[in-house]
Amino acid sequence: MLAGGSGTRLRPITYTSAKQLVPLANRPILFFGLEAIAAAGITEVGIIVGETHQAIRDVVGDGSALGINVTFIQQDAPKGLAHAVLIAQDFLGDDPFVMYLGDNLVVGGITAFVEEFTAERPDAMVLLTKVDNPQSFGVAELAADGSLVRLVEKPKDPPSDLALVGVYLFDPCIHEAVRAIEPSGRGELEITDAIQWLIEHGHTVRPHILTSPWIDTGKLQDLLEANRIVLDAISRDIRGDVDDASKVEGKVAIAEGAVVRESTIRGPAVIGAGAHSERTYVGPFSSVGNGCRLVDAEIEHSVVLDGARIDGVQRIVDSLIGRDAKISRTVELPAALRLMIGDDSEISIPLS
Ligand code: G1P
Repeated sequence: MLAGGSGTRLRPITYTSAKQLVPLANRPILFFGLEAIAAAGITEVGIIVGETHQAIRDVVGDGSALGINVTFIQQDAPKGLAHAVLIAQDFLGDDPFVMYLGDNLVVGGITAFVEEFTAERPDAMVLLTKVDNPQSFGVAELAADGSLVRLVEKPKDPPSDLALVGVYLFDPCIHEAVRAIEPSGRGELEITDAIQWLIEHGHTVRPHILTSPWIDTGKLQDLLEANRIVLDAISRDIRGDVDDASKVEGKVAIAEGAVVRESTIRGPAVIGAGAHSERTYVGPFSSVGNGCRLVDAEIEHSVVLDGARIDGVQRIVDSLIGRDAKISRTVELPAALRLMIGDDSEISIPLS
């Protein structure tokens, strides 16, 4: 499980947290991958961690809560996915293994792929899916019979629209490949190049085209989409304190200790433990984190991280709001925006 990297496309959130810990329906993205691995019957999990290792170690612990036994493997710098395999060699030994990118969400899990790999035992198996922007991914070229001809990382001129999904299955022969390749133009040892090396050296690499949704949550719009998909699958579960003046519609989970007053919560949505909602509308596809405080607010299709406060602001959509952030309306003059925003933040203000 890869949980290193710097998460540049989710700044400023990733200045203070790991991209794999951004929550979907209030649970770290990483947990969805770890659960998919556990569900496929894999219990020994090595997690590659980088700069943000402490936060990941704190959240995952020894993995027993997820039914796995975790070993952390420290990567000194984000030197690429193939570099992660290189430093995991002692952990992996001669076993076949799954490599899973910790910010990827594969709806429906990976059990079927693990079973296919185990039954057929190719040297490697890659998952592919059609995307609109293949330039942003590793891309596969298939022959007319469906076999894999070639893989290229982030090509300017993509040979197809089939992107490499961040889940790979490998035989130990991948270790020779990761030792043989050179760093790419972006200075990383690319797993795409290592798999291409396998193809060129006569190893069998089986492609499997995914039909269920897959999302690489590394960017805001993709993260919101992943949150939408996960929320769509939740069940109604009201544990917090909701007054009679509030309406809670559809698939909504309200955690213990949350207080909802004179508000409308329209699912699918989750409200975290100890959160407070007053005269507020929380619309579909929103996750409100633990201990958030929303007063006279309207929010929809957004992820609000723990401890954030929104007071008197309508309406916030398509947003990711960081931990303990504060957004409020004021009557102070001049009537102007007053901002203290983190480096690399983005604010978009509608024409009025
Ligand atoms: C990595 C891989 C790329 C793959 C993508 C899937 O890209 O290099 O081949 O398509 O993950 O998420 P990165 O996220 O490192 O840019």
